Amino acid sequence: MTTVVYPGTFDPITCGHLDIITRAAATFPHVTVALLKNANKQPVFTVSQRLELIRRSVAHLSNVEVDAFTGLLVSYMRFKGAGLIVRGLRSIADFECEAEQAAANRHLAGVETTFFMASSEYSYLSSSMVRDIGSYGGALSGMVPSCIEEEVRAALLDINRLR
Ligand code: COA
Repeated sequence: MTTVVYPGTFDPITCGHLDIITRAAATFPHVTVALLKNANKQPVFTVSQRLELIRRSVAHLSNVEVDAFTGLLVSYMRFKGAGLIVRGLRSIADFECEAEQAAANRHLAGVETTFFMASSEYSYLSSSMVRDIGSYGGALSGMVPSCIEEEVRAALLDINRLR
């Protein structure tokens, strides 16, 4: 297996996501971070903003590629020739939802999912928490990668002002 895929919405990428990506990159030869252009969600950051934030966050990881996809994850996996999905688990709540998704992907195409337990310092963290705190001008240090912290904070403050 040469490529594993770590999919998500990444609105925006957090230190928790980066923790999973870093550990996956140390475990597998090649990791594709795949951003879903999700018709069912209304992300705050545009696709190009989210891709750029992810790219900057993983720039130091030479075996990580960043891409976007639409449609079924298993179709994208087939297109990429990828064999395994990587997901992070923060809690029992994640487990229930992830177990369903893993079973669906296995049912659809026989594609397996492997899980990394979130590091304890990130077990509380989510993109919506970052969006909420950032929209009130709160500090995001330790929540999003430091190289994108100022940009995420400024963008969230702007979005809040326009509301
Ligand atoms: N650290 C920090 N946050 C984490 C995290 C971690 N380790 N793991 C999950 N999260 C959070 C995210 O921040 C996000 O938080 P938010 O809801 O507050 O914004 C939330 O968990 C879920 O985000 P994400 O991990 O990006 O997953 P998702 O639910 O947006 O996307 C897909 C899931 C893309 C894998 C799934 O919807 C998919 O495959 N869709 C394609 C269609 C398809 O194939 N469907 C059939 C199979 S289900």
